[in-house]
Amino acid sequence: MAEYDRISGIYSVLEESFKSDSRERILDMMDVQYGENVLEIGVGTGHSMARMAEQVGEEGSVCGLDISPVMISKAKERLVKTCDHGRTDLILADALSIPFSENVFDAVLMSFSLELFHEEDRRKLLGNISRVLKPRGRICVLCLSSRSKSVMRDIYETIQERFPDHIDCVPIDVVEELESMGYTIGSHREDVLYGLPVSYACAHIKRHQY
Ligand SMILES: C[S@@+](CC[C@H](N)C(=O)[O-])C[C@H]1O[C@@H](n2cnc3c(N)ncnc32)[C@H](O)[C@@H]1O
Repeated sequence: MAEYDRISGIYSVLEESFKSDSRERILDMMDVQYGENVLEIGVGTGHSMARMAEQVGEEGSVCGLDISPVMISKAKERLVKTCDHGRTDLILADALSIPFSENVFDAVLMSFSLELFHEEDRRKLLGNISRVLKPRGRICVLCLSSRSKSVMRDIYETIQERFPDHIDCVPIDVVEELESMGYTIGSHREDVLYGLPVSYACAHIKRHQY
């Protein structure tokens, strides 16, 4: 993930302007409650964590995990400046080996990060998430969607195929993938972000997969 280390400065500015509405929308769907324990995987520069830390308050906790040391340090800077409440923790780790035991989290957020993984790794990751979620815990995903077509999506995928090291998000069918891993969709909507189809989905675990 050296690329994310390299682009973290510009990424922070771009995500503020391009992604803030969609981030707010998935956080609204996630509806984090006071006292909950929440995990964000692929935390980036920590925008969503800052809001979730306010929501969980002093009785809850928010843990952010990212593979990029630079993203983790940017997120830390943001949280130091913005968080009065809540317990926050940032962990440098690969999402494919989530370092937590079973039944720890009420909710897990993945915002523009699930679609970075190849299909086999996504299945492994979704299985690991169901392991760390409490029974009836929820996963909320915001991602580029392959469920609908658009001209921008065609253009994006053409560029992505040519420069996979620079453009690493690949549109996925998150509803199908969550259901195939034993999750039950609670809420879902499709939208368009700058011409690109995006999915918002929140799902519960029906049964543990491990
Ligand atoms: C496109 S950014 C999304 C950041 C943020 N969630 C957002 O909505 O803007 C993807 C993030 O996932 C992280 N990431 C990529 N692969 C990862 C992995 N294997 N384990 C943990 N984090 C990873 C990257 O370092 C980056 O911070």
